[in-house]
Amino acid sequence: MKHIVVFASGSGSNFQAIIDAIEAGQIKDAIIAGLIAGKPGIQAIERAEKAGIPVEILDSSASGEQADQQITGKLADWKPDLIVLAGYLKKIPDSVVKEFDRKMINIHPSLLPKFGGKGYYGSKVHSAVLEAGERESGCTVHFVNEQYDQGSIIRQVRVPVLADDTVESLSKRVLEKEHELLPAVINELLNSNSD
Ligand code: GRF
Repeated sequence: MKHIVVFASGSGSNFQAIIDAIEAGQIKDAIIAGLIAGKPGIQAIERAEKAGIPVEILDSSASGEQADQQITGKLADWKPDLIVLAGYLKKIPDSVVKEFDRKMINIHPSLLPKFGGKGYYGSKVHSAVLEAGERESGCTVHFVNEQYDQGSIIRQVRVPVLADDTVESLSKRVLEKEHELLPAVINELLNSNSD
């Protein structure tokens, strides 16, 4: 049984898509060993509790080094085969990036390398896409390296940008694709040798 650890800072709808895909057998032979929550009070925590998944909430008053230790301590317990960043907005400790080289992925709501990097998160991505007059957008799953949103791309899904799109309508269209893409990539990465 493979272990997945998810990091999330927000509503956790992508986290939910992973929970549902495991339950539906779309992600095979895997469990979510734990959720690292970037802060208290987020919906992702409620989703974990409902699904019986252990949660570690990061202590916002901790120093950089203490925060890193909180993460590395939990990863030592949960022993992930794959780490999934699903709407996680904090920095990942350098030691974790190194240790989980090509075993840590992120989902980003644009067609990287466009509209990625520091400052491009959440609705900011979609408003930048609309302001730039793009005809299409989409989502990207990529490996995580030391630079924000710059690790190698695994897969992308495209969606059209419509003339009357708002940030809400575009983000909804992209998010629906994220919920399909992320579980599919996770299953491929975990099970590509055993199928
Ligand atoms: C998603 O658009 C994801 O691509 C981005 O943050 C958003 C998180 O949504 N990184 P959710 O918390 O999974 O609902």
